[in-house]
This record gives sequence, structure tokens and C-alpha cells, in this order.
Amino acid sequence: MNIGTTPKSVKQKSLVDAASFGQSLGTNVRACYLFSLMNSVFITGGTSGIGLELAKTYLKKGWKVGVCGRDADKFKGHFDSNHENIQFFPLDVADREAVKRAVQKFAQPTGLGLLIANAGMSYPHKSKVPDFDRTYRMVHVNLLGVMYAFEAAMEIMIPQGQGQIVAISSLAGFNGFPGISGYSATKGAVMKFCESLSMDLRHLGLSVTCVCPGFIDTPLTQMNHHPMPFLMKVDRAAEIIVRGIEKKKKFIVFPFFFGIIVRILSIMPRFLYRRIMQTDSINFSRDNTKEIST
Ligand SMILES: NC(=O)c1ccc[n+]([C@@H]2O[C@H](COP(=O)([O-])OP(=O)(O)OC[C@H]3O[C@@H](n4cnc5c(N)ncnc54)[C@H](OP(=O)(O)O)[C@@H]3O)[C@@H](O)[C@H]2O)c1
Repeated sequence: MNIGTTPKSVKQKSLVDAASFGQSLGTNVRACYLFSLMNSVFITGGTSGIGLELAKTYLKKGWKVGVCGRDADKFKGHFDSNHENIQFFPLDVADREAVKRAVQKFAQPTGLGLLIANAGMSYPHKSKVPDFDRTYRMVHVNLLGVMYAFEAAMEIMIPQGQGQIVAISSLAGFNGFPGISGYSATKGAVMKFCESLSMDLRHLGLSVTCVCPGFIDTPLTQMNHHPMPFLMKVDRAAEIIVRGIEKKKKFIVFPFFFGIIVRILSIMPRFLYRRIMQTDSINFSRDNTKEIST
């Protein structure tokens, strides 16, 4: 990514560009340009669960929406491909160049107001010994996939001098939870990545939001075999996320009580945290050593 120019000069250049662009177009046309810029959203993983609900919400609001996913049939099952305000990009978010190409294509010619890096994966079986093939795949999708999307968005938004970038992390990122070491690690890393960038990109006119949901009823959690406290419907989750994005919150953590519990766990002395989390009634990780060695 080429962001080697000093940030201040980039922003000044973008403001000068915007000003001269506005003068050359006239006030009304410039207002239309800004409207279309600020009402365009690209959502990674917008064909199922949370991403799908977010895509539907923004589409209803009249926004221009771009979604990506690996399975075009999922998209066709939920959207009219001829709808002028929605575009689908078939890709794997672990492919950096593909993500970049898709976001750039979507942002032509009006720019990009909002990017939501939502695509992610987990595994239903909570295992004590990680399946490292799956863990590495999670790093590619849940962490690098978010970084690739952020990179693509920043290449467009920094010259624009405005934009909002959002990542869907998880309450699982606050602590190292037993049985989901890989998932917790990727989501924790996404939280730190967002926190750093929320400070670094502020003076460039970009705002960064990290979303940390608890259990949401989606195809991803429907595969789980363990209890899911405070399970929330996906339309309610999308409502909370959209409202938080509108307020440009740095962190959107929900459901409220589950969020409080997880945050208390995260500031607890670690010996106490480990003792609590290793009690059989809340530790659902399974001993899969035999399974893996065969
Ligand atoms: N559901 C929850 O309880 C919960 C809680 C906390 C955080 N989250 C996070 O929220 C995000 C969305 O989860 P969800 O519950 O909505 O899951 P979901 O229903 O399984 O949807 C996942 C979406 O991501 C896409 N996707 C997955 N892997 C991809 C890849 N490699 N490349 C491109 N697209 C990919 C899927 O489309 P394709 O299959 O077509 O690729 C689908 O559109 C994830 O990051 C998840 O970790 C979920």
C-alpha cells in the first residue's frame, strides 16, 4: 500500500483536490458527489448472518452497497442481482489482491464512505489441542482478511480525506477463552489493530470502529454444540451495529450484560480468571488428542 507521503500533506492535498473539484463542478453537483460518497458501503462477507443483515439495512436506507463472499449462490438467494444499488464480488478475503481489486472497482467513480470488514469464520468444536490447519486458516480469514480490507479502504479514503472503517471482532477477543485459542487470538488481534488505527487515522479524517458482539443467531453459531448465553437475533444485532456506526463509536460491545461480564473477566487477576474458566460447567473445550493423532 502506498501511503508513504506524510499524512499532513496527503490530507492537505485531498482537501485542496476536494475544494477545486467542488469549484469546478458547482455546489449542487458537489453536494451530490459527497452524498454518494458518504452513502456507499462495502461489506466483506455480506451474504449470510450479520453481514447479510447489515447489507439489507443499508440497501433499505438507499445506500450503494457492495458485498463479497466466496459463494455467489448465497448472494443470489438473498438479493436481486439486477438491483442497481447492490453489487456482488465473488472472492476469498484471504486473497489480498482480490480484495483490493473489488473495493477499488466498487468505489469507482464515487468513492467509498464506509467499509465493514465482517467476513469471518469459527469452528463448532471447542478443542483443547488446536487443529492448526484450521487455526492458520482462521488467521488468514479473520485477521489478514480484515487487514486486507482495511488496506484497500485506506487507499481510497486517505486521498478522499474522509471515511469510516469498521471491523467485526467479538467478545471472544477480550480474553483467551478455553477451546477457541485460534478464534480468540484472531479477534483479540483485530481489536488491537482497530484501537491503534482509531488514533493513527483520526487526523486524516478517517474514523475506525471495532464491533464486539456476543452470541448472535447466525449460520456460524447454529453449528455450535454448547450453551450460548444472551443469544441475540441477527436483526437486533444489525440495528445496534448500524446505530453505533452512525455515532462513530470506537467500540460497539453488546449484548450489554454479557459485555460487562466479559470485561470484568478481562481485568481480573489472571490466576482467578483461569480458575473460573476451568470449571466444568463453563469450560466446553474437549480433549481431542486421540482424534488428532489418528
Ligand atoms: N454469530 C456470532 O455469534 C458472532 C459473534 C461475534 C463475532 N462474530 C463475527 O461476525 C462476523 C460474521 O459472522 P456471522 O455469524 O454472520 O457468520 P456467517 O453467518 O457464517 O457469515 C459469514 C460471512 O462471511 C463470508 N465469508 C466467510 N469466509 C470468507 C472468506 N474466506 N472470504 C470471503 N467471505 C467469507 C461468508 O460468505 P461465503 O461463505 O460465501 O464466503 C458469509 O457471508 C465474523 O467475523 C464472526 O467472527 C459473530
